[in-house]
Amino acid sequence: MYTPETIGTPLAPNATKVLLLGSGELGREVTIALQRYGVEVHAADRYDGAPAHHVADVRHVIDMTDPDAVRALVDEVRPHFVVPEIEALATDALQHVEDAGTATVIPTARATRLTMNREGIRTLADRELGLPNSRHVFASTYDEFLEGIRRIGMPCVVKPVMSSSGKGQSYVRSEDDVRSSWDYAMSGARVSSGRVIIEQFVPFDYEITLLTVRSVDPASGEGATWFCEPIGHRQDRGDYVESWQPAQMTTAALESARSVAARITGALGGRGVFGVELFVKGDDVYFSEVSPRPHDTGMVTMGSQRFSEFDLHARAILGLPIDTTLISPGASAVIYGGVETDGTASAPNYAGLAEALTVPETEVRIFGKPVSHERRRMGVAFSTAETVDVARQRATEAATAVTVGTDEVEPAASTVRDGGSWGR
Ligand SMILES: Nc1ncnc2c1ncn2[C@@H]1O[C@H](COP(=O)(O)OP(=O)(O)OP(=O)(O)O)[C@@H](O)[C@H]1O
Ligand SMILES: [Mg+2]
Repeated sequence: MYTPETIGTPLAPNATKVLLLGSGELGREVTIALQRYGVEVHAADRYDGAPAHHVADVRHVIDMTDPDAVRALVDEVRPHFVVPEIEALATDALQHVEDAGTATVIPTARATRLTMNREGIRTLADRELGLPNSRHVFASTYDEFLEGIRRIGMPCVVKPVMSSSGKGQSYVRSEDDVRSSWDYAMSGARVSSGRVIIEQFVPFDYEITLLTVRSVDPASGEGATWFCEPIGHRQDRGDYVESWQPAQMTTAALESARSVAARITGALGGRGVFGVELFVKGDDVYFSEVSPRPHDTGMVTMGSQRFSEFDLHARAILGLPIDTTLISPGASAVIYGGVETDGTASAPNYAGLAEALTVPETEVRIFGKPVSHERRRMGVAFSTAETVDVARQRATEAATAVTVGTDEVEPAASTVRDGGSWGR
């Protein structure tokens, strides 16, 4: 892994360069954190005007699932680090970049490949590491699906192996749900692999994200692992609605959670922040999945930690010291679009920011996405307080105060560009 001894000057020939693949709201914060250390950031996404595009030194629009396009962009930018921000990438191209020594892939090319497909990561966790996780089978045809449901039993959870944010995901509670669950999974798969995982439903007491950081320990010069305080969160239809930190856990459950997180992130290797998703029932912890990058529920850390998960990712990428200190109980709440815009003749607007910011110890981020959808995440509010409960009330109050509307706009020629790169 490349560890820079010096940081160059952005936009100069000696720049220390990061190529971000995926330019969403998490990538935007990572971009800003890297730029604060003097790193030149190139942000790529499949559409122009993505959140990180607004702040990056250079923005790029490419199809990130196209291996040739990814390799061509790496050749053009010549980054020191390639930092994936989303799952749906041409991971074979990343493996090629890593093997050729062209750039360091964060955390590793293998980690991006294994985690983009539920089958890869669950097989690693279950078969190779023996981590506790829900019983599950995979199916590629409707017959295999029926057989899988019979083996796992109801209730069970069905998900396309390649999907995120709850897309194509459903619960099968009775025979009546079986056909619709299959059809829904087929419609929600990111890449139409047609393969699903059928998981036993875990009747957990609560679920957490354990942000786990792998970087270099300055005392030993060796790689080391740090844990943030656990983050509790609430999901609706497979998508996060609010999160809080710290989540209350028994000492035994927290120890198990750290042990599971250390093992899965150790097996994936490399440096960076990982979001380890776990279900907790009593003192028992079940591995669910892991993001080899900052996690959406971790946006709470922008208020609750001395250094946010984005600051920590920037540090870990560069091999710098890590500090996971919690400074206050905190919470985050999502601001949803609520309206549909089409991206050419209308643009979202935001009302209620002043009202939201009258809530004590509260901050809001608006992501600047060019198109709004009913259930699209357009912003986030986060708050601190003396207790998690008060922080949750505050964040939710602030998020509710911000409403998304629509302005009619002249269709702009720039919104129909389908490829290329632009300086800021
Ligand atoms: N086996 C299960 N038993 C009980 N609940 C589950 C199970 N699998 C998933 N869930 C619920 O659905 C949520 C989303 O599941 P999962 O994280 O696997 O999907 P995802 O599409 O990858 O979501 P995201 O990308 O937002 O993390 C979980 O956080 C949990 O609340
Ligand atoms: Mg998840």
